[in-house]
Amino acid sequence: MRVVVGISGGIAAYKAALAIRELVLGGHDVHVVPTASALRFIGRPTLEALSRNPVTDEVFDDVASVRHVALGQQADLIIVLPATANTIAKLAHGFADDLLGTTILASRAPLVIAPAMHTEMWEQASVQANVATLAARGVTIVGPVSGQLTGSDSGLGRMAEPADVVAAALALVAGTAGSTDPGSTATSLAGRSVVISAGGTREPIDPVRFLGNRSSGAMGVALAEAARDAGAAVTLVGANLHVPAPDGVALIEVETTAQLAEAMEAHASADVLVMAAAVADYRVDGVSDGKRSKEEWGDAPTLTLAQNPDILAGLAQRQRQNLVVGFAAETEADDTALIHRGRAKLARKGADLLVVNRVGHDEGFGNVATRVSVLDASGVIAEAAGAKASVAREIIEAVAQHLAARPASTRSTEEPR
Ligand code: CTP
Repeated sequence: MRVVVGISGGIAAYKAALAIRELVLGGHDVHVVPTASALRFIGRPTLEALSRNPVTDEVFDDVASVRHVALGQQADLIIVLPATANTIAKLAHGFADDLLGTTILASRAPLVIAPAMHTEMWEQASVQANVATLAARGVTIVGPVSGQLTGSDSGLGRMAEPADVVAAALALVAGTAGSTDPGSTATSLAGRSVVISAGGTREPIDPVRFLGNRSSGAMGVALAEAARDAGAAVTLVGANLHVPAPDGVALIEVETTAQLAEAMEAHASADVLVMAAAVADYRVDGVSDGKRSKEEWGDAPTLTLAQNPDILAGLAQRQRQNLVVGFAAETEADDTALIHRGRAKLARKGADLLVVNRVGHDEGFGNVATRVSVLDASGVIAEAAGAKASVAREIIEAVAQHLAARPASTRSTEEPR
């Protein structure tokens, strides 16, 4: 396959070398088109040696072969990594003032871009609007992810790993994006903020003991990964996770229901809120300051519990324009009864979507296969079964489609600046 790799002028330009190498080793004919600024970050000899093809940023080199359009016309795939705020703006507005611009305009090949910039730049309304324009035109946006940035700062804006960008681009051309591992959802969440709670809250009894539940956080973590792959800026509120948080999502660690509620409320205006955490409905009333001995407990101790707030209902029932998604883990064996119970819960909580899954002693917990139905007020809108990673992608796809189907006026009031 003939792949054009565009490189724009950011420090992440050096990582383009890894993507080029991977594509060449994969047997592809790679043509590199850097911008003038990119060549200040990475040398032409490196790009020529790795791609095994001549490299120029000049529209007026090799004019006889009409290079400024030929490269684009002959390309099967174009990947721009890194895509700076400036290049994204130029692409969104159709600028053709350099070889990369003309190449992209002259092409009908799928275009994949991997944004990289500082968090403040990425969150700027102008950048988000340009990204949304490109996404609406069918451009695939991979990342950015959270992590170490150029200086001492870290946050959302780091370029997705070159191998991930290449994998997403090749999956797109192969027509497998969103359907196989590793993949992304077909409907983009680029420019959207998604906050997901995962895991199980613990309610302390004393400094060493707690009341808890069996949730591992695997489903919430898989959802965070799927939402990240769909292009969203993801925050994971993790309650006592048994599984590692994925790269490229912002992690807020909490332990109790009160802490989880506070973290979710702080992000209540995100475009999508997903309550996948197993939240303790009750906390211990009168937590002991010191570790209580058996002598203090006595022969037949009792714990007095107090009710915790319903976080999902609180988020769903406020005045809002975003999408609120709940989960319901049910032990009901009969499918019709399960859906009936789910619909009643959806209405009671006031959420937009409810993901109903079956749990039991052998079903639903940890890294095992699972089976879910996604409900909205009209009934079941999606069903998925299998490994949590693939089920999570189906759920995020249902979320993205629900969001895309909403009129623009119901977009979140708190757009990134
Ligand atoms: N949830 C919540 N706050 C709580 C309890 C649950 O936000 N205090 C959320 C869960 O994260 C999940 C949804 O509500 O998204 C449904 O959880 P579930 O435990 O099934 O709800 P309950 O209201 O506790 O239902 P039940 O009476 O069946 O236990």
